[in-house]
Amino acid sequence: MKQMNLNFPNNFLWGGATAANQIEGAYNLDGKGMSTADFIEFIPKSQRTKDNEMEITSDKIKQIKNSNYQGRFPKRDGIDFYHTYKEDIALFAEMGFKAFRMSIHWSRIFPNGYDTEPNEAGLAFYDKVFDTLLSYNIEPVVTLSHYETPIGLTEKYNGWVDRAVIDHFVKYAETVFTRYKDKVKYWISFNEINIINLSPYTGGGILSDREDNPLSASYQALHHQFVASSLATKKLKEIIPNAQMGCMLARMKHYPNTCNPDDVLKAQQDNQANLLYTDVQANGEYPNYFNKFLAENNISLKITDADLAIIKQYPVDYISFSYYMSLLSSTEPEGKTTNGNLMNSLKNPYLEASDWGWQIDPVGLRIVLNEFWDRYHKPLFIVENGLGAVDEVKDNQIHDQYRIDYLQQHITEAKKAIQDGVNLIGYLAWGPIDLVSMSTSEMSKRYGFIYVDQDDYGNGSKQRIKKDSFDWYKNVIATNGNNL
Ligand code: BG6
Repeated sequence: MKQMNLNFPNNFLWGGATAANQIEGAYNLDGKGMSTADFIEFIPKSQRTKDNEMEITSDKIKQIKNSNYQGRFPKRDGIDFYHTYKEDIALFAEMGFKAFRMSIHWSRIFPNGYDTEPNEAGLAFYDKVFDTLLSYNIEPVVTLSHYETPIGLTEKYNGWVDRAVIDHFVKYAETVFTRYKDKVKYWISFNEINIINLSPYTGGGILSDREDNPLSASYQALHHQFVASSLATKKLKEIIPNAQMGCMLARMKHYPNTCNPDDVLKAQQDNQANLLYTDVQANGEYPNYFNKFLAENNISLKITDADLAIIKQYPVDYISFSYYMSLLSSTEPEGKTTNGNLMNSLKNPYLEASDWGWQIDPVGLRIVLNEFWDRYHKPLFIVENGLGAVDEVKDNQIHDQYRIDYLQQHITEAKKAIQDGVNLIGYLAWGPIDLVSMSTSEMSKRYGFIYVDQDDYGNGSKQRIKKDSFDWYKNVIATNGNNL
């Protein structure tokens, strides 16, 4: 009989995860073009009309391009990682990181997205970052597209709605695979590929006001991303045969609000809607429930036989996902609601929520790990998990016990899932160093083990300070998760 795994495996990939547009800054240096993220404006909470400010219109892009426009765009500045990567990576190494997830800013390599030649200065920057990581034996885990579509592709094609973008993406992927073939083994094609249907601009560089049928457009764009991911996987296998390609899902587990079978069915349907993306990318085909959804919504997508063949032939090697919270499904959704990662939910009376309303559910992580494993039997990789919280600095110290508690509880449940028999290859905490929030562009929503002295308006010294969680995580890694 197979022996039960009681601990994290010896080669477990402990570390942290980031995205270029939330850390790099240097948005217009060394030949970089503008990306969709560079047009997201910071709106203080008191002036916000929604929970997040992720969707913008064609008119807004025109206004912002007018040089008289006054606004603050934190993702243009990030935390200046472009200039501080050496010191920041040294701190990750001090914590004992085995892996670091980052993305390549597509518009640093192809400034408009459709250029014929790549930008050498952009390629050289990532060479330096990868070399620094490797000098500490930190494995780079690289996302090709993390909410950073070059704005040139939005303007020319309305982003991923147009099939032409597939070729531009594959060319970009081939360029970076060739350049970094001796440096990067773990790749992820699209960050949280499901976000395209919640925020088409964020996930697909799509300006919805340019589309007659925005719902249909976002699913057409998604189809193009599925094809692009498989074509990139094909190239990856040709260029770096031992490399691995992963898909990446924002897993949002839905529980039924009651044991009424109608609620249970609703939860099942909401979970299918969330798992569609991994179903396609892991199994290599569209599930029937999706075809039914298209028919019910009068959506007719342009899908060729060649598209279906490539999706089937090149599924992903591993499944990576972000996990922050769980949600409730109900056929009578009246009641107290709370915020979530671009999705709101009824409040679960058994769970606490973060300051931003995201419901904290460590046991849910064990549940989703088991479900993923049972459904796909492919290696799993947690590439985002963490607590966004306000930190207080006193005497140059940050006592973030709340963050330690959150991470400790989630890692404990991940360990139990390994004992359940799940093949989990790594755990990457989101935002190991404070960074600009994806949904609100705030700096005050902090995830890091390392504090960055910078406020929502860009004021501050940018000094890096270790929080209490820094030493705690260092010890977790040093003991391979035995000491949590
Ligand atoms: C994930 C994204 O959805 O959540 C990250 O991949 C993001 O880019 C993270 O930063 C946390 O969300 P937020 O809005 O708190 O930054």
